[in-house]
Amino acid sequence: MTPPSAAALADHRRALAATPLAGLFARDPQRFERLSFAWEDWLVDVSKERLAADTLPLVAAHARAIGLEGWIAALFAGEKVNLSERRPALHMALRRQDDIPLSVDGRDIVPGIRATQARMKALADAIAGGTRTGAMGRPIRAVVNIGIGGSDLGPKFVCDALALTAPAATHVAFVSNVDPEHLTRALAPLDPATTLFVVTSKTFTTQETLANAIGARGWLESAFGPEVDVAPHFVAVTANVAAAREFGVADADALPMWDWVGGRYSLWSAAGLAIAIRLGWDGFAALLAGAAAMDDHFRTTPLERNLPAVLGFVGWWNARHLGHSDRVVVPYSQALDLLPSFLQQLVLESNGKRVARDGGPVAGATAAALWGAPGTNGQHAFFQWLHQGTREAPVEFIVPVRAAHPRGQQQSLLVANALAQAQALLEGRGVDALRAELGRKGLAGIDLDAAVAARVCPGNRASTTILMPALDARRLGQLIALYEHRTFVESVLYGINPFDQFGVELGKTLAAPIAAALIDGAPLPAATDASTRGLVERARALAATARQPTSRDSRE
Ligand code: F6P
Repeated sequence: MTPPSAAALADHRRALAATPLAGLFARDPQRFERLSFAWEDWLVDVSKERLAADTLPLVAAHARAIGLEGWIAALFAGEKVNLSERRPALHMALRRQDDIPLSVDGRDIVPGIRATQARMKALADAIAGGTRTGAMGRPIRAVVNIGIGGSDLGPKFVCDALALTAPAATHVAFVSNVDPEHLTRALAPLDPATTLFVVTSKTFTTQETLANAIGARGWLESAFGPEVDVAPHFVAVTANVAAAREFGVADADALPMWDWVGGRYSLWSAAGLAIAIRLGWDGFAALLAGAAAMDDHFRTTPLERNLPAVLGFVGWWNARHLGHSDRVVVPYSQALDLLPSFLQQLVLESNGKRVARDGGPVAGATAAALWGAPGTNGQHAFFQWLHQGTREAPVEFIVPVRAAHPRGQQQSLLVANALAQAQALLEGRGVDALRAELGRKGLAGIDLDAAVAARVCPGNRASTTILMPALDARRLGQLIALYEHRTFVESVLYGINPFDQFGVELGKTLAAPIAAALIDGAPLPAATDASTRGLVERARALAATARQPTSRDSRE
């Protein structure tokens, strides 16, 4: 097949726009079979997306023409696909189930991965077995992961998702925000003598993480007194061991991160230590094995039946060709509560770019804004906007069918709601059906007209449904790897590098002089705009204002 030109894809989109989704189903009785894709015991249904029968083949041909298969091969081979930073992106190596050598800059990375996993397992086992003790000689009972972004979101998401099935008794908490409230709340129920901090930071320079680590060290020191060495209460996970050592972490308690793993892809590395502690090593190993199975599927399956590729094609088609600026993720699973925020970093830090790989401007829209919340909660919040708002936002329904608990009937209610919402977005509710229904209830005339108009749901709104059999460590690993690879596929179609994130640097740089102005009264740089200058002055004045006495104070 000759690769379709951009003009052919645009023609295809115009022809498609004229046909409502319901019409596409009416035209093709086999549409569901044609546009739903099975793998293991998963089913990904994109038949409710705005795709004609030949859209995916056209996009697949385009993807081949621009070298997607070569990019996938390069990714797995450890080539420097992160062009701007001249690094490979080898998070898949961390979950490989074999020990076949894999070389980065002439060195086999597999022995280092296995050695680190052995150290993670030993540490997780020691904590579970009560043999890891703190400065007072008491066993560690609580672990606080201090990190932010990729050094927080992934491990926190996994621990939360599998909390109900996790065997380990160790309390695991996560602190990320530089807001001291976060650390204060996390520490409130904990005993310093039995608490271990895992400071997770690839760079060990991240302002929020260092501020929280210093706060944690102060909490321990004020509990134990200045003469006690608090080092037994710290583990570091970092690529910057020197900085961790300087902070006070013993070398034996510093686990490595590597340049060839990006922060948002790092939960599979020692950055997942909190997961291994919370789930036990077997749980973490099952997560890795699930992701490895998805890696094999992605690496070896033809694009037309390849789940990450198909989902990436749909995402690119929706954002680049249909012009959707939003993408809504709704897991029908309370356990997947944190999936939207995990995906926000994965997708938006990866594909929120305006520069192509060659440094020129991208040829059109890149990643749509991604947001969402679990069903059925979202149904009572933003679903009104989805059904009757003035803009269409394609929705991804992610539905683990079997529950991890015995309330089977309630689970069926949950699944029914997911399927019904996707159906409602597709079919809507038209004037005729509403007139008949409200007429039967006695409404007539302008009352009937107004009541009907307010209730019409236009339908013809796109969605994808992912049915996964259940949510366990293996399936969660598969789900995360599915989204990682899908994000990569979209990046290739957008023509961008998904593995850098220079956009986050500017705000960090500008925060330094503002912090100096707030803390020490330092003058702001001359070029500071009038709004920022005015806000800094006001914040400084508010911070300096003495607390007004309250009536309660006067009673005390
Ligand atoms: O937000 C920018 C970022 O660099 C992320 O990519 C990363 O996950 C996060 O900060 C944390 O970085 P580090 O692990 O170096 O503390």
